[in-house]
Amino acid sequence: MVDSAAMANRLQNLTESLAVVLLLYPAGQAPPAATPEQLQAGQRVFGGQCGFCHGRDAMGGETGPNLTRSPMLRDDPSGDRVRALLREGRADKGMPAFRLSDADVTSIIAFIRNQGTKAASPGARRSVDVADLQTGDAGRGRDYFNATGRCASCHSPTGDLAGVAKRFQGLELLQRTLYPSKSRAATVSVTLRSGETVKGALAYRDEFTIALTDASGRYRSWRAQDVTFTVDNPLDAHVEQLARYTDDDMHDVLAYLQTLR
Ligand code: HEC
Ligand code: HEC
Repeated sequence: MVDSAAMANRLQNLTESLAVVLLLYPAGQAPPAATPEQLQAGQRVFGGQCGFCHGRDAMGGETGPNLTRSPMLRDDPSGDRVRALLREGRADKGMPAFRLSDADVTSIIAFIRNQGTKAASPGARRSVDVADLQTGDAGRGRDYFNATGRCASCHSPTGDLAGVAKRFQGLELLQRTLYPSKSRAATVSVTLRSGETVKGALAYRDEFTIALTDASGRYRSWRAQDVTFTVDNPLDAHVEQLARYTDDDMHDVLAYLQTLR
């Protein structure tokens, strides 16, 4: 997922001043200083792919925690745990998996740490620039919606998205577009060795286990190796799309959606 400076301002506490009390690093443990190029690259990738959940300044957003205070980052000087988390995601908690190059992850981590340091400096203040959201081109956004983005395969500007700009504005519309709330849960269809097929709402899934809640509300689970299953998550397309958007695409699509009043 995706932008540079523009996308990802936080919804809440926009003007609240922030007293950051935690420094990321206890003295003596600091990793090698990042280069300005690394910080810039980190800011770009972070803003694009992480910012709309974690805040473009990494200090927390509507759906993602403040990363400048994350114990995980603080206690992981090598970045290995963060790398693993990004690879695997925590889909059940709303943190998607990412395929990022090692260099990108390194610069993201450098960026987050630098944000933590900046936030801890006196006078640090949260700020937001709503104008950042208004830089797209609606015509290009419409083309993207119908062609490259394949949005039209699931949505229609005169059907389900008619009036969407009346329902949501600004950042909220952007967030909905990038990662709609999970009003529709993933379903799973499990085929047992006997040939019987059981369907229901996906309740749990990891490497070893698959579980669902069936229509009668009963929780059922199997060892993944004993069954075959297919998961259908209506929001998969959105999670995948996050990796494809460029910053410009995102703003263009937003500009287009804002015309659907
Ligand atoms: C769709 C929203 C979303 C996006 C996009 C997202 N995250 Fe997250 N992230 C979350 C949520 C929600 C959590 C909390 C998960 C939990 O409670 O276990 C989280 C947790 C994390 C954590 C763990 C924090 C801790 O202390 O446990 C890290 C690190 C992290 N995200 C980094 C990133 C990075 C880097 C990116 C971009 C490459 C990113 N996230 C993109 C939603 C998101
Ligand atoms: C494979 C199907 C699929 C594709 C492709 C898809 N979406 Fe979605 N989209 C969904 C689903 C499912 C929802 C959630 C609807 C719900 O909650 O009822 C959704 C929700 C949304 C919403 C929020 C609507 C609302 O009223 O809350 C917006 C905006 C949106 N998508 C925009 C896009 C854009 C822009 C693209 C292309 C870049 C796209 N979608 C591609 C399936 C898709």
